[in-house]
Amino acid sequence: MAEFTLPKNSVVAKGKIYKAPEGTKNIRRFEVYRWDPDTGENPRIDTYELDADLCGTKILDAIIHIKNEVDSTLTFRRSCREGVCGSCAMNINGKNSLACTKAISEYSGTIKIYPLPHLDVVKDLVPDMSHFYDQYAEIKPWLTSNSTPPATERLQSKEDRDKLDGLYDCVLCACCSTSCPSYWWNSDKYLGPAVLLQAYRWLVDSRDENTDERLAQLDDAFKLYRCHTIMNCTDTCPKGLNPAKAIAETKKLLATRKD
Ligand code: SF4
Ligand code: SF4
Ligand code: FES
Repeated sequence: MAEFTLPKNSVVAKGKIYKAPEGTKNIRRFEVYRWDPDTGENPRIDTYELDADLCGTKILDAIIHIKNEVDSTLTFRRSCREGVCGSCAMNINGKNSLACTKAISEYSGTIKIYPLPHLDVVKDLVPDMSHFYDQYAEIKPWLTSNSTPPATERLQSKEDRDKLDGLYDCVLCACCSTSCPSYWWNSDKYLGPAVLLQAYRWLVDSRDENTDERLAQLDDAFKLYRCHTIMNCTDTCPKGLNPAKAIAETKKLLATRKD
């Protein structure tokens, strides 16, 4: 993987260096983005040397080790540590991923950890997800119906249920959207791959009764059609999902409805 170095004129300064204790044999070095809005200072990169035999196996374990044992001021999100809550998304050596699913051993040399790119930073590794969640709400991510509810649950054939595989498994980590150049430049209007994959999940749910309204909402030069099939999203998704395909299928659905 290409080395990720700070540009010469970067406002991100080299920060503190936390050396490993004397005699540590198996040292792993982590460079971590730090920014605290309360200090009024520019962002900086702190360096932490950890004993690899003590800091756990995953990137998230190392970050938790830093917080618990080295520097309690480091701020980040995490919850499940099983790759299902999506909250530990961050940029690791230049690629967005879930810190709890990435083994430290997958990386050689210094490991560089930044917040998800192109989002405002709340503090350190915590990005502001408000706009992302607002866009998610915009697609009505719940089952909508106009008919009288059945006495029992709404049934679905096995074949129809299978259509949701690869869609319902999205953990809304935003790794894909924040790796998409179209989303970087137009996130005010473009919904981005994560939200579009979720939109498609409801389009193909046989129990939903508002497919036409959902499609009409997406039929917009910016909301949907800013996707130029660059494929960063699919390449990045830590769950192995394919948002680019969901977007292409949505465009196909729109094209066939118009015919
Ligand atoms: S395929 Fe579309 S959504 Fe995915 S990275 Fe490219 S432009 Fe963004
Ligand atoms: S499609 Fe993948 S990368 Fe995008 S939000 Fe869902 S799980 Fe995360
Ligand atoms: S902590 Fe939940 S996905 Fe990483």
